[in-house]
Amino acid sequence: MWKSKHMKFLTTTEFDRKSILVEFENFDNTKLDVGDKEIFEKLKIKFKQKDYSIISEQEIQFLQKNPKESWIGYLIHRWKFSYYENYKEFPDFPLYLILEPISICNLKCPFCHQVDEKFLKNKSQLGMMGFELFKKIIDESQSGGTKAITLTCRGEPTMNPEIGRMLEYCKNKFIEFKMNTNATMLNEKLIHQILDSNLTDIVFSVDSYYKEEFESLRVGANFEKVLENIKKFVEIKEKNYPDSRIVTRISGVKMLDEQDPEKFKEFWENIVDFVVMVNALPKWDLYSNSKEEMSKSPCHYLGRSLSIYFDGSVIPCDMDYQGVLNMGNVKDNTIKEIWQGTKYKELFNSHKNNERGKHFPCDRCPA
Ligand SMILES: C[S@@+](CC[C@H](N)C(=O)[O-])C[C@H]1O[C@@H](n2cnc3c(N)ncnc32)[C@H](O)[C@@H]1O
Ligand code: SF4
Repeated sequence: MWKSKHMKFLTTTEFDRKSILVEFENFDNTKLDVGDKEIFEKLKIKFKQKDYSIISEQEIQFLQKNPKESWIGYLIHRWKFSYYENYKEFPDFPLYLILEPISICNLKCPFCHQVDEKFLKNKSQLGMMGFELFKKIIDESQSGGTKAITLTCRGEPTMNPEIGRMLEYCKNKFIEFKMNTNATMLNEKLIHQILDSNLTDIVFSVDSYYKEEFESLRVGANFEKVLENIKKFVEIKEKNYPDSRIVTRISGVKMLDEQDPEKFKEFWENIVDFVVMVNALPKWDLYSNSKEEMSKSPCHYLGRSLSIYFDGSVIPCDMDYQGVLNMGNVKDNTIKEIWQGTKYKELFNSHKNNERGKHFPCDRCPA
């Protein structure tokens, strides 16, 4: 399954998987380049053998919402994303970009780095991206071959007043185009901007289905307001954008034993397309974690995705929220130069050789 090991899908959708094979059988693969053609053939064989194990709820949601003409490009992209997790090869350019509109947040969730005082006191880590830098990054990512982007990183993206323009600039440039939000600041104007931008996935980060528990986890948020905002989003989508391909998801972080995934699912499944829960990764004070927390396998971010912070700093992943593993800055170098540079390759090869314990903070990171 192409899903995060920490994520649990609470809802499932009926889908006729055989319709995927039909698309593969009717597709003229001469349009594909050599590498993609090979992947296409591998996938076709799998599907012919009725092996759909690589299609998880996430893929089903995309396939259901998007025109069949886009299925093959999407599944080839998802195959690559899964393939590069194994460190067999190093792609020329990141497949997936996590781009930070802002590193600041209006909430203080106890499981998030936004409660780490050392982070909050480090003023060099707090700020928002300007539109010109954003544009430069998007232009290079698109021409370099990035197919998936998330416009969210360490902070709450809707706090950047330029977010509407940023969303508009990304319109139709990527196969997967996602944003996570705590939904506290959604308003009609922003909802229209989001839906106009052809975002493919919106993740509402909500961890509970009732006020007391929700407000103890999303500290600073108001349950009624967040619920109203999400309902408003869905209402505007259904009324004004009936053909929208956006997938709406509630994603909860599980931190307390008392959190009940079943009741959580029952509450939210009638409002959004699907509901997931992720286990809280110990990252609210990552740099002080015990080394016991270190994941036993090489990092799954390296060699396929890249995070770019608001000031242009390039970081292998946003688990490293203080940017210790800074690989360079897109103001000084291109993304490709940094991606293919010695510093990044050394870290990649070291993880590949099972030496993540030699690097701080990888040596205490659970991802
Ligand atoms: C850092 S937040 C930034 C975006 C926005 N403020 C939000 O909450 O959606 C990005 C995502 O990480 C999730 N998250 C934060 N801390 C986490 C943790 N310790 N373990 C797992 N997920 C976490 C949030 O719930 C959210 O979906
Ligand atoms: S999880 Fe999101 S909403 Fe909560 S503190 Fe972190 S950045 Fe803010």
